[in-house]
Amino acid sequence: MPISNLLEKATEDMLNKAVHAELYASHLYKHVANQMQRAGFFGTQKFFAGESADELTHYQKIADYMNDRGAMAKVPALEACTETAADIVEAIELGYDTELQLMRDYEKWYRECKCVITQQFLLQFLELQRKSVGEYGDLLSRLMIVKNDRGGMILIDQELGNG
Ligand SMILES: [Fe+2]
Repeated sequence: MPISNLLEKATEDMLNKAVHAELYASHLYKHVANQMQRAGFFGTQKFFAGESADELTHYQKIADYMNDRGAMAKVPALEACTETAADIVEAIELGYDTELQLMRDYEKWYRECKCVITQQFLLQFLELQRKSVGEYGDLLSRLMIVKNDRGGMILIDQELGNG
């Protein structure tokens, strides 16, 4: 007997949107890491490479959950990344905007979800997004302190590289 899909279509579609969002974020952070490498901010490059890897673990959490429920996560085609980040400030602002949008998406998906088991699963993503937005906000505060001071930027770049 084939395993039945316990997810309603609307819930499965929503989870596949989340799958796409996590994979795109991973792509985007790789793209930012490449731009930071080119600009000589190697600590920030390392930070965004780590962020990219984290997004793949988020993807896998959703894929595992869908499998538990008898469904299967998609591996969607992703749009090419065209966002640009010339320096650390632009890179962190891009990360902040991306995580804030993801937080709003997860809030919407949680509210609209009719399945309580999936809602319970989504709670961890609300927490992840809250922490991530907070972390990027703290980094922006640090960057505002040094403003255009190049020495300060290099110090923050080193901090980011040390995790
Ligand atoms: Fe994520």
